[in-house]
Amino acid sequence: MSSSVNAEEPRTSFPLIKEELKKQIPRITLLVALSLIGTGVGLVQPLLFKHLLDTAIPAADVRLIGLLLVGMVAVPVLSAGFNSANHYLRAYIGEGVAQRLRQELFDHLLFVRLADLEQFKTGEHIYRLTRSCGLIGEVYVGQHLLPLAMNAILLVGTLTAMTWLHWRLSLVALLAFPLSFLLTRKTRNYTQSLYRDLSNTLESGESYLNEIFPGLRTVRALNAQAHEKDRWREWLTAHRRIKATVSAFHEMIRIVLPESINYVVAGLIFAFGAFEIIQGRLTIGSLVAFAAYLPRAYAVLQTLLGTQVNLQEARINADKVDALFALTREPSGDRALPSDAVSDERRPANVAPPPGAALAFNNVSFDYGRGDFGARDLTFRVEPGEFVGIVGPSGGGKSTIIDLIMGFYTPRSGSIALDGIDLQELSLASLRSQIGLVSQDLFFWNDSISRNINYPRPDEDAGAVSEAARAAQIDEFITGLPRDYRTVIGERGLTLSGGERQRLAIARALRKRPRLLLFDEATSALDALTELKVRTAFEQARAGRTAIVVAHRLSTILAADRILVIDQGRIVETGSREELLTLRGLFHDLYKAQSFDLPEIAL
Ligand SMILES: Nc1ncnc2c1ncn2[C@@H]1O[C@H](COP(=O)(O)OP(=O)(O)OP(=O)(O)O)[C@@H](O)[C@H]1O
Ligand SMILES: [Mg+2]
Repeated sequence: MSSSVNAEEPRTSFPLIKEELKKQIPRITLLVALSLIGTGVGLVQPLLFKHLLDTAIPAADVRLIGLLLVGMVAVPVLSAGFNSANHYLRAYIGEGVAQRLRQELFDHLLFVRLADLEQFKTGEHIYRLTRSCGLIGEVYVGQHLLPLAMNAILLVGTLTAMTWLHWRLSLVALLAFPLSFLLTRKTRNYTQSLYRDLSNTLESGESYLNEIFPGLRTVRALNAQAHEKDRWREWLTAHRRIKATVSAFHEMIRIVLPESINYVVAGLIFAFGAFEIIQGRLTIGSLVAFAAYLPRAYAVLQTLLGTQVNLQEARINADKVDALFALTREPSGDRALPSDAVSDERRPANVAPPPGAALAFNNVSFDYGRGDFGARDLTFRVEPGEFVGIVGPSGGGKSTIIDLIMGFYTPRSGSIALDGIDLQELSLASLRSQIGLVSQDLFFWNDSISRNINYPRPDEDAGAVSEAARAAQIDEFITGLPRDYRTVIGERGLTLSGGERQRLAIARALRKRPRLLLFDEATSALDALTELKVRTAFEQARAGRTAIVVAHRLSTILAADRILVIDQGRIVETGSREELLTLRGLFHDLYKAQSFDLPEIAL
């Protein structure tokens, strides 16, 4: 396959984090510098105490006492200033990492193969894009990894000061570190499973909410509110339980454990310190200063332990993000159609439109991986300007043909060609720029009608929009609305009727000025008049274009040049309406079943 995109290695989150942190080196350097200064300032405080107790007070030096007291007030104020600058920078860098992950993941998901994407729920995409990326960036990098660097500095500074005061005492203080690391190592597996449970629970909650709100009508129609209330309560209970466990565990690892170790070590230090004072090797002031350093060392220890725990949480979320990064992208060739340049909407008015596109299926087979068929050995051609209808029983594989033409799915075997170029060689962007698709289930943005027709063009070319709407027979309806083209149509176009949605989709497809029109008729029933409107819209739309129309109402394709009858993924009959009727096969049966509103054909 001549695919440039596919050759790329899938991205993973940790190299991305590293890359982003590298880009942030100037900011990180500034952060370290600020920390150094902040730490230096903070370390002065205990020494001021020592001088006050050991020098200034015994010597009754009032001036020195005054100076030392001023210092004691100034130092915390300065520290606070450095601290807020630190926080800002840390959050900024952490958010930078989250932003990078979110951007890359979003870009990736926009291009992932549909078959791969369908393995995940929408809620999972949303959870991973928001919470997982955020957790890695904001919490892990911003609140833990970066402070780790600063804490290392603080630790070195504190230990130096402690060693300078009394090196034998500082050896005792150091005992706390190996002790606590041993303990966190032992709990690593438990930490991991706990955080995995937590993020799975959160993800399932997100997925559930994502499913239920679009489905509320159905839930009500089936009187299922009580059932859903129970499901939601169950989730809430599970969530509360896991949150409480995680919180207790976090408290244990981050607060209780280091605190207990700290108390034990402090006890040892005071015992040993008292002995040293009695021996005359230590002053009381030094012991007080030494003890003042202890909470700092303890804070560092706390952060280190927190980072350990957090690393596990970050890793679990990174795994979730990486599972999405591992999805393969839509295979795309890089050839462009020669007609691209002229078929585009930028085509000047005096340039004749290029003829409709030619399409060929050669022994195309495809399945959705569920062991059943989607398409089996399909071979057919559609000539430029031809109008081909596709009919057949539900689930027969009609929409699958449309999906294969759009490049949403790739055939397992055989090939599809547009204007003689194999779809595998053709760039997907070029392919799709030729096609106007009106699919079976329509999607619209919760935005104005004109923006929906014009999507994704930012400029609102009112002329082109209303031209497309007129051709789609929807202009009259739109101009009859109080806010005409500026009317907002609600999420997924829910404020429109089925027929209006279809015609709006035809208008959107026509706005592209495509060479190939694909119309997968919605199964929802339309009244006779609306149906006529949609059919007229479509008849207008297909002028000068190639058209492939999947029809559930045979009336839609009565004018077709040729009809393919699809059943169980195969073409079972093909020919004009009259030819098919004389066959007295599946088409004949379908025709008979719908014939009450179709012209009588003498057989
Ligand atoms: N995304 C999918 N994943 C798995 N199987 C699918 C998927 N889409 C369709 N199928 C299956 O493939 C077969 C053909 O489906 P297709 O949507 O092409 O039928 P259809 O002829 O368009 O039916 P209808 O007239 O009801 O729209 C069906 O058995 C269907 O269950
Ligand atoms: Mg279908």
